[in-house]
Amino acid sequence: MLKLSVIGTGYLGATHAAAMSSLGFEVIGVDTDESKIAQLNLGKVPFFEPDLEELLTQELASGRLKFTTDISKAADCDVHFICVGTPQLKDSLAADLSYVNASFHAVAKIAKAGSVIVGKSTVPVGTAERLSKELQTVNNQVELAWNPEFLREGFAVADTLRPNRLVVGVTSDRAEDVLRQAYKPLLDNNVPWIRADLPTAELVKVAANSFLATKISFINAMAEICEAAGGDVTVLAQAIGYDPRIGSRFLQAGIGFGGGCLPKDIRAFMARSEELGAKQSVEFLREIDSINLRARQRMIDLVRADIGNDLKGKKIAVLGAAFKPDSDDVRDSPALDIAAQIHASGAQVMVHDPKAIIPAKARHPELTYSESIEDVVDAADVILHLTEWKIYRELDPQLLKGLVKQPVIIDGRNSLNRELWLKAGWKFRALGRSSAS
Ligand code: UDX
Repeated sequence: MLKLSVIGTGYLGATHAAAMSSLGFEVIGVDTDESKIAQLNLGKVPFFEPDLEELLTQELASGRLKFTTDISKAADCDVHFICVGTPQLKDSLAADLSYVNASFHAVAKIAKAGSVIVGKSTVPVGTAERLSKELQTVNNQVELAWNPEFLREGFAVADTLRPNRLVVGVTSDRAEDVLRQAYKPLLDNNVPWIRADLPTAELVKVAANSFLATKISFINAMAEICEAAGGDVTVLAQAIGYDPRIGSRFLQAGIGFGGGCLPKDIRAFMARSEELGAKQSVEFLREIDSINLRARQRMIDLVRADIGNDLKGKKIAVLGAAFKPDSDDVRDSPALDIAAQIHASGAQVMVHDPKAIIPAKARHPELTYSESIEDVVDAADVILHLTEWKIYRELDPQLLKGLVKQPVIIDGRNSLNRELWLKAGWKFRALGRSSAS
């Protein structure tokens, strides 16, 4: 049985380590963050991800899974998965590769002869080939492969154990064979296996995320047109989605995409394409990014249209801070950005989120937060629905009407039941649905 290491224990690495252990492998998770490692060894996941804590506890108890800050403990592993982050650089669109470079060099130093280093992080195309060359001087007994990860936050465990495909970029049959052994239980379940060269494997990830971002911005562009023409984007999305060539998923119009992947991945793709002399090929992504950011402004415009241009002294209730439901991740969250922008205009903003209050407070301490929806909506001039948590769809509009100053709700995610709110006497507004009354 192979022994595995996982370098970097964030959303991707912690999930990958626990999932691979559950497939029966001995796994050592490595991170430089001591407090994260201490928590993981106690069975505590330092972020919210459904089902992960249960899996982690189970795998720690099995004795197969361990976490450490000491990378030399991974020296006897056959496969090393690099799962560190590649955030956007502060002063450019490009990705920050410092964590990938540092972890690659750390693991290359200790890796035993015959082992394979497998990058899972999302990197600009060409990174794997560069690292592969570096490996020849640092440790020529070891091979490099690239195996991009497609997991979604909120479904990380399910996506890792039941991925819709496995993509491996390799330069030898041997490296492919080692990866086939590592993923054997998934292959036995008929998960499609795609062997590619290194650049193609890297590109598959950014191409997939660019396509998803394009789909969301496409429907948000249609929302803008619906607003101008008096149409309803939710009906339009439903109708075009029945065409199997289009498909109905990722056609939810609203305040747009955020999180630690889609926004920075399309920007890094633009930056890298320019370096490659192929700037024009993905120039459309600039517009995808602009449409996405415009949706936030359109939401703020709807607020002003309803309660007046001057937001000073108004109380705005915000439902949702996370970039999407079932996650406490607030990186590039459209919801939190809108809340902060409205606050900066002088309104009193109070934010609710079932899981993301602590991370949201760390980023935007100027906003007021409460764990009670009643507190948040109390005497509000308007309620903004910005992250589509299930509990918000289950709210009783009749009950809430008695708490607010005036019954106005703006659905920034197009996922509330409009008829229910209208019936209870609310003014209901939504992005891309100008016919709402
Ligand atoms: C994404 C990819 O889906 C995943 O395959 C990749 O590995 C990492 O990036 P994630 O960032 O977890 O995953 O979020 P995703 O579910 O893709 O949603 C991204 C954003 O788009 C969220 O802010 C979500 O609210 C928004 N979104 C999604 C829409 O606005 N409309 C939609 O129809 C779908």
